[in-house]
Order: sequence, then C-alpha cells, then structure tokens
Amino acid sequence: MSAYFKNKVVVVTGGTDGIGKALVENLLQAGAKVATCGRDHDKLYRIQSSYPSAFLHTMLADVSNENDCRRFIEVTIKMFGGIDILINNAGISMRALLKDASPDVIKKVMEINFFGAVYCTKFALDSIIERKGTIAGVSSIAGYRGLPGRSGYSASKFALQGWLESIKIELKDSGVHVMWVCPGFIASNIRKASLNKDLKSHGDTTMDEGKMMSAEECAGHILRAVEKKKRTLVLTATGFQTIFLNKFFPKLADRLVYKFYFKNGELVK
Ligand SMILES: NC(=O)c1ccc[n+]([C@@H]2O[C@H](COP(=O)([O-])OP(=O)(O)OC[C@H]3O[C@@H](n4cnc5c(N)ncnc54)[C@H](OP(=O)(O)O)[C@@H]3O)[C@@H](O)[C@H]2O)c1
Repeated sequence: MSAYFKNKVVVVTGGTDGIGKALVENLLQAGAKVATCGRDHDKLYRIQSSYPSAFLHTMLADVSNENDCRRFIEVTIKMFGGIDILINNAGISMRALLKDASPDVIKKVMEINFFGAVYCTKFALDSIIERKGTIAGVSSIAGYRGLPGRSGYSASKFALQGWLESIKIELKDSGVHVMWVCPGFIASNIRKASLNKDLKSHGDTTMDEGKMMSAEECAGHILRAVEKKKRTLVLTATGFQTIFLNKFFPKLADRLVYKFYFKNGELVK
C-alpha cells in the first residue's frame, strides 16, 4: 500500500466484518488513523484489542440511528482532530419477496444502507470540506440493477448512488471528492445477516462463498480507487457484465436475472 493513507483520518462504518473489517485492517497497516463502528460490542472489542488504540477508535453505533451517527462522528473528530476520508460501508441485505415481506424489512434496509450514509456524511461534512477530503459509498451492482427478493436492498443502493451523485455536484467547487464503489459477489457475512420476511437474520445461504472474491482483495481495490479519486469502481467480471447488459439489453438482463435468482420457481437465497 502506498504512503497516501499515512496519518490520514479515515472513518469506515461497519468495520467489524467482511469488507469493512478488511478496509480497517488495510488502512491501519498503511498508517492511517481509523474510526469504525458497529452494533456488536464483542466484535468491536475484538478488533480494538488487536490494534494500538492511538490509531484505532471503535464505537458502538447503529448507523440507522441519527444520534448514534452524530456521537460517533463527533467523538472521532475530537479524538483525531478531523476527518479526511469517510467510507460509508455499513450495510445489510434482505431475502424476501414483496408479497411475503413486512414493509418494515424494506424500511430497515433503507434506514441502514441509505440513511446511515446520509447521517454520517452530514455530521462529517464540515470537517471533510475543511480538509478537502473524500466521501465514498459502498454501493453494489444492485445499485444499477433491481434484484428479486432483495428489492429493499436494490432500492437502498439506487438511492445511495443517486444521492452521492447529487452531492458530488453540490461539492464540486469545495475540493471534496465524492465516489461510490460497486462490488459484485464478495465473500462476507452479508448473506447470512440478510433480513428475512420477518426482520430476522436469514442465517444461511445457498451461494458458494468460496468462489467469490475475498473481502481483503475487495478492500484493496476500494482503497486504490479512493487514492486515485475514481468516480466509481465496479468489481468482478460478473458485476461488470450485469451493468453492461442491463444498460444496453435490459430485457435480456431481466431474463438472465430471473434465471439466476429463481430455481424451480423458488427464490435463491
Ligand atoms: N459482500 C457482498 O457480496 C457485497 C456486494 C456488494 C456490496 N456490498 C456492500 O458492502 C458493504 C459491506 O458488506 P459486507 O459484505 O462486508 O457485509 P458484512 O460482512 O455483513 O459486514 C457488514 C458490516 O456492517 C455492520 N453493520 C450492519 N448494520 C449496521 C448498522 N445498522 N450500524 C452499524 N454497522 C452496521 C456490521 O456490523 P454489526 O452487524 O455488528 O452492526 C458489519 O461490520 C455493504 O454496504 C454491502 O451492501 C457487499
């Protein structure tokens, strides 16, 4: 990793698992001062005890709660003096058809994936403007293409990208860089943690995590994109193909998405 991140203050929401955890670890190795949050005290404690506290600040905060975000960002600024880079990574998915799901499932996913990014960005904004820093969102291929059984997830990622694109233009003359990254399938806890129709963790997946890109590799790509101030980053060949097909051959994409996500009429989870 280059010297770009050395002594920079980087906030990564949801840094206790998967892509967020790999981002935190890579950033610490690169000499950054890192702040991260999550909802699970034990997972936060484990990551905090592995690294010297002068460079890592962890805090219990649920990004769907505006006050938690305010406190998390305020304490981070107090500890490290400001924020250079915010990576809105915390996210959750769902596995339920609209006909079965409580609307609360879609609301919850939106509150975490979309409003969580809005709250953290809003509270960090003055500091990021002061430092001419970067605001990044971890979106998804689902932010370009609606996916069955994951309708709230797709909606939240479409919203995230539209919102980031809007504020990118608002911030054009401020020196702040705004970007979003769209991973394809990455091995992580996201499928197991997905909410089912009753707002409970799904706890299982039929997908083969072993065949997916690792969270560590994904984090490396994300950090290189942040360093190069890319506008967007799309990851995995399948992810790229999906976006391409959806843009130029949307009806074909509809058929392929159906084929992939329904087996014998049953939703693939
Ligand atoms: N893995 C993929 O295939 C994939 C593909 C495209 C995009 N993404 C995106 O990548 C991001 C990271 O996902 P991942 O795959 O690394 O998932 P993961 O392994 O499930 O990790 C998610 C992280 O977010 C935290 N989190 C979830 N809800 C939170 C909340 N309300 N407040 C604070 N933290 C919260 C989790 O900690 P707690 O549960 O302890 O709160 C955990 O640290 C997400 O935005 C996801 O949509 C993932």
